Amino acid sequence: MCGIVGILGRGPVADRLIDSLKRLEYRGYDSAGIGTLKGNHIELRRAEGKLRNLETRVRCHPLSGHVGIGHTRWATHGKPTEHNAHPHATDNVAVVHNGIIENFRELRAELKQHGACFASETDTEVVAHLIDSYLKNGCSPQDAVKASLPRLVGAFALAILFKGQHDLMIGARKGSPLAIGHGEGEMYLGSDAIALAPLTDLITYLEDGDWAVLNRNFAVVYDTQGTVARREVVKSATSSVLVDKANYRHFMAKEIHEQPEVIGQTLAHYVDIANESVALPQELPFNFNEIGHISITACGTAGYAGHIAKYWFERLARLPVELDVASEFRYREAPMRKGDLAVFISQSGETADTLAALRYAKSQGLHTLSIVNVQSSTIARESGTVLQTLAGPEIGVASTKAFTCQLVVLAALAVAAGKARGELSESDEIDLVRALIEIPRLVTAALASEPQIEKLARDIAKSRDVLYLGRGTSFPLALEGALKLKEISYIHAAGYAAGELKHGPIALVDESVPVIVIAPCDRLFEKTISNMQEVAARGGKIILITDASGAAEVSKDALATIVLPKMGTTFTPIVYAIPVQLLAYHTASLMGTDVDQPRNLAKSVTVE
Ligand code: M6R
Repeated sequence: MCGIVGILGRGPVADRLIDSLKRLEYRGYDSAGIGTLKGNHIELRRAEGKLRNLETRVRCHPLSGHVGIGHTRWATHGKPTEHNAHPHATDNVAVVHNGIIENFRELRAELKQHGACFASETDTEVVAHLIDSYLKNGCSPQDAVKASLPRLVGAFALAILFKGQHDLMIGARKGSPLAIGHGEGEMYLGSDAIALAPLTDLITYLEDGDWAVLNRNFAVVYDTQGTVARREVVKSATSSVLVDKANYRHFMAKEIHEQPEVIGQTLAHYVDIANESVALPQELPFNFNEIGHISITACGTAGYAGHIAKYWFERLARLPVELDVASEFRYREAPMRKGDLAVFISQSGETADTLAALRYAKSQGLHTLSIVNVQSSTIARESGTVLQTLAGPEIGVASTKAFTCQLVVLAALAVAAGKARGELSESDEIDLVRALIEIPRLVTAALASEPQIEKLARDIAKSRDVLYLGRGTSFPLALEGALKLKEISYIHAAGYAAGELKHGPIALVDESVPVIVIAPCDRLFEKTISNMQEVAARGGKIILITDASGAAEVSKDALATIVLPKMGTTFTPIVYAIPVQLLAYHTASLMGTDVDQPRNLAKSVTVE
């Protein structure tokens, strides 16, 4: 899961390649590189680490050339060093790649036998040498690529340059996304429309198996059979403005604070505020009465949003929900009933496992509905129905505002399902919609707990392990809290259903372990509190998150109580997510980790 870009320009391209890579850094930031054609040879600049290192290098050693490719890397094969950074090149050809070439060992051995010398440990370098071998056998660049592609097993998006070919670039995709951008007398390749936004808004999305031959004035797309394929040019609505941090230290902080506004925007898209009813922006191409079962599939935080929604669909619409981690969904051969509904949740809309699960569900004859934040993404384009979250660009690797907006859409959908199935009366719907309309105000109130949370974070920052407990919808929120903390602070954290603690994890509890108990005053409150007392009895340092009545009842057993506003019980996770996010944020920020780009991670995970 890397970002790639290519420019066939009318002027120097180095700076524009770097500008596009800035928009692709969410795909990986282990290393970055660019390559251009200079006279009769290919020149590269590459640097380990963040893009700013490459920028410094290019500033010291400028790169001319009107045609070039660029790459930002999330390491899969080989350490994140400079020599493993893309582009990978021979004398004749340079390649940037997103994906994994699964048969690279065999190809490498074969190419070595024929004299190829490898300079990196990457799978990508075989692509450069393979194409090079065909070029050396007298093939044209186009024929060399055509002969090479069928030999690559795995997933790839490629942008390829050829020595001496100043009006040629070739792109190919299988599994990983790739788009062509059409400029005025210029042509571009990019992993997505976001990378190309400052260059053009005229985009052709390549389909799986396509490859394309570009020159400055036109692009010819071929399908897997090598037949010329007609692919539409669409106008992208992606903004070219690079989002900034405003006055915040980190994007994550900014995104946490944007939640009242973006939740409000998303809500306004899914409910009719004046009539206090659910109003989905489009008619659904299926009838909830004919659905026997919903399967929800996603990864990471999006998966926890799905887990919370399972409680809502089951309770409000009496629809059984099966929940899957996307990387497992298509491999476990679960029986599926044609005509049932499969829901996919993804901020980026590019997560490889979620996309593969979507394609699998389609092949099984299920209705597919996706909840995505990036409207131009592959998942959005390939889903039967798309419900957009209006969270705006989420830059911090830790998902915050996308999560709460996903919950809003899922809540509206669950109410719509309950209504359609006759499980909710009109007055139930009004009550639930009123509760949803209250949420932006409640989230604002929850944000007021920040100074207290900042102080508590000092303690958490000294811990080795942290536990999160909750029951009902607070259980998946506990899982989300633990994920949030560990991904940005690198402190080990685990979330549990509060009732499950005594079946093993309670052995971890001692005076050094903070235990975050998420306990809104709902019908499970007393039970959660009993579990909390089991922890207190063993010396655990409890941080209780509840409302004023909960606090009045039990806060003496807690080291600290974060008091949230009183609210109805159904949608508490949307509001209780706020202290959970703030706790992770302030802990990591105190520890001085790279909050927005934590180690080993990427915002968009486009490999399996
Ligand atoms: O773009 P997606 O929503 O499909 O991404 C799914 C996960 O990779 C993502 O939620 C990840 O777990 C976040 N880093 C969590 O904060």
